[in-house]
Amino acid sequence: MSANSSSTAAALTLIADDMRGMDSVIARRLQSDVPLVSQVSQHIIAAGGKRLRPALLLLMCGALGYRGEQRFNMAAVVEFIHTATLLHDDVVDESTLRRGRATANESFGNPASVLVGDFLYSRAFQMMVEAADMRIMQTLAEATNVIAEGEVLQLMNMHNASLTQEDYLLVIRSKTAKLFEASARLAALLAKSPVAVEKSCADYGLALGTAFQVIDDVLDYDGDVQVMGKNLGDDLREGKATLPLIIAMQRGSPQECGVIREAIETGGTASMAEIIDIVQKTGALTATRDAAAAEAQLALDALQNLPGNVFSDALRQLASQLLGRRS
Ligand code: IPE
Ligand code: IPE
Ligand code: MG
Ligand code: MG
Repeated sequence: MSANSSSTAAALTLIADDMRGMDSVIARRLQSDVPLVSQVSQHIIAAGGKRLRPALLLLMCGALGYRGEQRFNMAAVVEFIHTATLLHDDVVDESTLRRGRATANESFGNPASVLVGDFLYSRAFQMMVEAADMRIMQTLAEATNVIAEGEVLQLMNMHNASLTQEDYLLVIRSKTAKLFEASARLAALLAKSPVAVEKSCADYGLALGTAFQVIDDVLDYDGDVQVMGKNLGDDLREGKATLPLIIAMQRGSPQECGVIREAIETGGTASMAEIIDIVQKTGALTATRDAAAAEAQLALDALQNLPGNVFSDALRQLASQLLGRRS
């Protein structure tokens, strides 16, 4: 874990050994005879990241009492899939900073990023097939497909200033929350939990992932580049109508709405300072944080159906602490 996460540190000490187990799988399974594959994948993976999806999977395995070796492989699989989406996402978003260093596309170019993203996706699929469990394969095949749909949907929504809260939610549930849902569900599948428990795990993951992305969209206006390790303002630059802007347009004066509409329709960060002022003044950032809190509450509700133990306590902490995250 990188320094960001003192808030989640307590929850994560429980799985410190498990995370090391996952890291050794990652190191082993990253190997390729093609030097550029190793270079690009090392570039992004060695930079760290929060490893949140594997942490969720491993904590959930703990909560459900699953101690089998397969958990390390599945934790590595979800991190590989996540990393593949980041490599592709940074190309699509033309981002230059990730995990505190130049993005892979910045350092190695778009073709290398796209292709190594494909390598990581397909390596994850090789590993998932080794698990020889049809439900696990279904879960990951569905998640990756929905993530791709979410990214495409978001592309279609670019520069659309009339986007509704529902449109926005569909995108973030697809592009981000779906992998959190899959990570939590995989733990239930490994543990061979009853269907009702599996559903609660999935509900927890989906709500947690939704809250996570909503906070991410706040931090794009209200974060610290040093702490986040990625640039602020990327959403506005791309003309992305995220929740802070959608709410600000519901609350702002006609003049304020006009500024936001124009920025979404044309993209660019020329009016960034003015828009930060509007999202603050209208209370849109606070309301967006409240929306994340409501999702986090759904995650907490879902946990009530899981066994009570130190791991489910840690999952509870994770849902609350995520709301205050700065990175
Ligand atoms: C970044 O995810 C992409 C989003 C879903 C916002 P993380 O914030 O989990 O990225 P890392 O893995 O910690 O770098
Ligand atoms: C991340 O979306 C979601 C996926 C990688 C699929 P964003 O584009 O909003 O996340 P950041 O800000 O680049 O991490
Ligand atoms: Mg991006
Ligand atoms: Mg993106």
